[in-house]
Amino acid sequence: MGESWEPPARPEREIEAVIFDAYGTLLDVHSAVARHAPRIGPQAAAFSAEWRVKQLEYSWVRSLTGPAHHQDFWVCTQEALAFVCTRHGVRDQALIQDLLDAYRTLDAYAEVPAMLQALREKGARTAILSNGSPLMLADATKAAGISTLLDMLLSVEAVGIFKPDPRVYALASERLGLPARRMAFVSANPWDTQAAHAAGFRAIRVNRTNAPDEYGLAAAGVPSLTDLSGLPGLIP
Ligand code: LAC
Repeated sequence: MGESWEPPARPEREIEAVIFDAYGTLLDVHSAVARHAPRIGPQAAAFSAEWRVKQLEYSWVRSLTGPAHHQDFWVCTQEALAFVCTRHGVRDQALIQDLLDAYRTLDAYAEVPAMLQALREKGARTAILSNGSPLMLADATKAAGISTLLDMLLSVEAVGIFKPDPRVYALASERLGLPARRMAFVSANPWDTQAAHAAGFRAIRVNRTNAPDEYGLAAAGVPSLTDLSGLPGLIP
């Protein structure tokens, strides 16, 4: 008997799927306030930045306080807006409702549809893995005209804890049926990029504002893009 023969392994594509953070990466979180900026006044940009910071703070505090204190990202978004409105003296209930409605229908960054199309033409699957609740993600991707360009919308609600808990990143492997090393993870949030890198994904940072490096991402070889138009060129 000769040596046993095994067929050569089917060549694997290096990256089979590209997973995106939603808020701040595909969707411009500041487009909600931008639509109503004249009604907020000169403090609109600071108001928008604080809304985002508080929203994330509330998500982290809820995760660290334990499962009994979990509320979805829509609750965190509303509570953060209520805080920022109080701080800035915004009391107009119609404006507050308009801001919340705008947050459900944020703009995608201009290059996003063509970039997703290009990834799919390369044969990569595309998905979102986000803190957003399933309904938020469905509303936002539909309004931004990108729902048909995404194969999956994965929400942290499936695990009941927010990013950067490692269980969230494990959800992508579980749902896509791929090891993390076969997926790229793209985020404009450096802490999210760091967590994805730690979880074994091919992490890629988007840095639209030329912000300083964080978490040693540059030294770890994590590529940084100024927008998403160059992303398909990075996916083998
Ligand atoms: C998200 C938040 C982190 O989309 O922006 O998950």
